[in-house]
Amino acid sequence: MHWRRDVRRFRKDKIVDEKILHRTLSSSFHSAPSVGLSEPWRIIRIDSEHSRQVALTNFQEMNAKALDGYKGGKKQQYASLKLSGMQEAPVQLAIYCDDSTSKGSGLGAQSMTEMRRYSVVSAITLFWLAARSVGLGVGWVSILDPIRLTHDLGLSEDWTLVGYLCVGWPEEDNDTPELERYGWEKRTSVDDMNITSI
Ligand SMILES: Cc1cc2nc3c(=O)[nH]c(=O)nc-3n(C[C@H](O)[C@H](O)[C@H](O)COP(=O)(O)O)c2cc1C
Repeated sequence: MHWRRDVRRFRKDKIVDEKILHRTLSSSFHSAPSVGLSEPWRIIRIDSEHSRQVALTNFQEMNAKALDGYKGGKKQQYASLKLSGMQEAPVQLAIYCDDSTSKGSGLGAQSMTEMRRYSVVSAITLFWLAARSVGLGVGWVSILDPIRLTHDLGLSEDWTLVGYLCVGWPEEDNDTPELERYGWEKRTSVDDMNITSI
């Protein structure tokens, strides 16, 4: 867990073996908890040149818009960050939540429908750790217009984008988040973690 990182820099000389990818994906998603056992995740591989371009353009436009929201030094710093590995990641996955699934018969999701999406987040976290355990890196990209991406990829409107994941062999292993190394934000120390009793 300590060495899991959000990876945005991938080796260009090493492809991801399909068997390793399949085992990592299937073991993690198969083991994941989900509300009512609804297993609402839908995994889309973004493989074709067209799909990759659609996703990359979406990221570039949303990232430019995000940059506009910063001023001065923070803007300069934001512009210098690498916030996705979409240009080089050999494997790219759009992970959706099927909000309309009947699996689980609504158990646990009637008063809090967002629980299905939280289930997908749980599964992604297991995948992130499983990938790390075999040496693969995963980078989560959220600087996207999800509705436009879903439309442009021709996917169901009942599905909600939860995470766009870049997967590949990392250029390096590191135990410190990249945003901390580049001075954007610091990770809270274990001693400062607040657990409140009420
Ligand atoms: C829901 C979610 C969305 C994220 N979106 C992005 C993103 O769009 N671009 C990016 O560079 N990192 C993204 N990250 C990665 C975080 O920046 C990263 O997890 C954080 O800086 C801590 O670093 P670590 O994951 O290496 O521990 C995202 C992480 C999560 C959990």
